[in-house]
Amino acid sequence: MPATVVVGTQWGDEGKGKLTDLLAKDMRLVVRYQGGHNAGHTIVVDGQSFALQLVPSGVLYPHTVPVIGNGVVVDPAVLLAECEMLGSRGIDTSRLVLSGNAHLIMPYHYELDLMTERYLGQNKLGTTKRGIGPAYADKAARIGLRVQDLTDPKIFRQKLDVVLREKNALLSRVYNRLPLDGEAIAERYLGEIAPRIAPMIGDTVALVHEALEAGEQVMLEGAQATFLDVDHGTYPFVTSSNPVAGGACVGAGIGPRDISRVVGIVKAYITRVGSGPFPTEVEGETADYLVDRGHEYGTNTGRRRRPGWLDLVMLRQAVRLNSLSELDITKLDVLSRLETVKVCVAYEADGTVYEHVPYHQSVLHRVSPVYEELPGWQEDLAGATSVDDLPAAARSYVELIAKAAGVPVSFVGVGPGREQYVSFAA
Ligand code: IMP
Repeated sequence: MPATVVVGTQWGDEGKGKLTDLLAKDMRLVVRYQGGHNAGHTIVVDGQSFALQLVPSGVLYPHTVPVIGNGVVVDPAVLLAECEMLGSRGIDTSRLVLSGNAHLIMPYHYELDLMTERYLGQNKLGTTKRGIGPAYADKAARIGLRVQDLTDPKIFRQKLDVVLREKNALLSRVYNRLPLDGEAIAERYLGEIAPRIAPMIGDTVALVHEALEAGEQVMLEGAQATFLDVDHGTYPFVTSSNPVAGGACVGAGIGPRDISRVVGIVKAYITRVGSGPFPTEVEGETADYLVDRGHEYGTNTGRRRRPGWLDLVMLRQAVRLNSLSELDITKLDVLSRLETVKVCVAYEADGTVYEHVPYHQSVLHRVSPVYEELPGWQEDLAGATSVDDLPAAARSYVELIAKAAGVPVSFVGVGPGREQYVSFAA
């Protein structure tokens, strides 16, 4: 049975957690393939809210095995704390499997994330300050420590010694920070953390392939989203990994032919956290309305998200970049009670009309959105359970999105609860 990929089509926070949770109900494995605890998924089950950072959403179903793939960067202390939190709320995390090839986020990665941002000054990226970029940089530079190193104290210490010599020189001589104590780091990671992480470590590539060969359903869960992709997003205002569907192959250890379904998550409007271009950004009353009704504050950092109207130019690009086979629309209920709803159908810059995102960042910074203004709907959608329960204007909005994308819509979210969705599937 080929795998399903779930990917965000905007700048993250599309509400992937809820939809991945919904899809996870039929899955045997749910695999995270990139990112780290910069992600934050909120899932509401029976009125209880679960905020997940590293553990894949499938953990809430007893029949799924949550897997953290090789493409993820892991702060093991954060992972342990999250498992503890889930355990204290009655969720069993003992099935979780962590790739031995995933890279570790180390204390110096946090320091370097902070320092790089500080030195960038006004040009800072607005990172989550979780050490994500520096950890991926070390992976590419081939000086990263991996999860498997936790099980070999000699290797762990050797690698740490080498890497810390350079990091401490950088921290103390360039950034004027105190050098980090290698012995204290080794003691913490090997003494406190490793014994608790060791039982989770496994060969996740083998696990995924065994499941696929046995005809079981596997879901690959992306964190962040298409326009935060380091190759295809609004660089440099991106994260340091590949959330696009292609990243699922690398980050979980499968080939493209193992994927048959790619679900793109589309929030009914858009938000972005941190810096970077945002053609459909809105301010004023509409912005406050979307932020308040949509609770648009970071799950992790508490930062207010920047809101904007839905952008079909970005969506068309996301369809291409991910070969999306279906769309799930989230938070349609948030748009209720607006007199009109705007949708960006194209960009315009210097007399040129763009139907796809221009590759050149200077152009993207200059574009103005071309809007279509649609009638809004006054009804509250929270109780809708079928397409017929949706007001005609809300249905037209969904149809417009599907038509512009050229991809069918399967589900539409109408509230935070696990059961609050409408199925459009035939
Ligand atoms: P980093 O991933 O912490 O390096 O942050 C890089 C950029 O990605 C910043 O603009 C962050 O706000 C953004 N970002 C990272 N993770 C998420 C996420 O899960 N949702 C939304 N934005 C994110």
